[in-house]
Amino acid sequence: MPEAVPVVAVDGPAASGKGTIAERVATVLGYRYLDSGALYRLVALKALRSGADIDDPVALAALARGLDATFAGGRLGLDGEDVTEAVRDEAVSAAASRVAVHAPVRTALLERQRAFRVPPGLVADGRDMGTVVFPDATVKVFVTASADERARRRHRQLAQRGIDVNIQSLLHDIRERDARDGSRAVAPLVPAADAAVVDTTELTIDAAVQAVLARARAAGLAA
Ligand code: C5P
Repeated sequence: MPEAVPVVAVDGPAASGKGTIAERVATVLGYRYLDSGALYRLVALKALRSGADIDDPVALAALARGLDATFAGGRLGLDGEDVTEAVRDEAVSAAASRVAVHAPVRTALLERQRAFRVPPGLVADGRDMGTVVFPDATVKVFVTASADERARRRHRQLAQRGIDVNIQSLLHDIRERDARDGSRAVAPLVPAADAAVVDTTELTIDAAVQAVLARARAAGLAA
């Protein structure tokens, strides 16, 4: 009865902090964690590596169905290779958002995402967790922040990894991705009608985690 297993859905735009928040909430609750964006990134990486056409929905859906992906100990595997860092590349990020506009790709990844719903519960982060993948989620949160703040955060993250990227170009990429994710016909990036919006522009990660946990407790989830 997977429907009886509680889900905390954490949706929001790129670099809003939703991944970090969702992971920490999962740790506190003792739940499993799904980074659904990683699946789109894996399809994009596989497509780039195999020379598949990023704009061919049929070829990409086949690739998504056959994806040899592993999630273990916070590491991401593709065809037996550790690609945790490789999928964060800006080229893969941009390709992932293009791959994600195709309905057949999204359908191909649906069951793979729902399979993460196992006791005692799941915290899932993405764009359509509360709207499409887990519409019956117990708690739905939409995490957001201003585009400027998100560009600053991404800049800081990359700098920590020794990568120096122009902040204006990051801002441009973020705006482009927001526009594509928000305007696509299938599963656009919009808060579920019953989602609580958490704006993290002026919040610390800790405060945002506490805000989500408060909602989880109010919904009867132990924490
Ligand atoms: O969350 P993340 O930035 O890793 O996601 C990469 C891309 O995958 C996003 O730009 C978005 O287009 C897509 N995505 C999606 N639906 C999800 C998660 C991610 O369309 N549930």
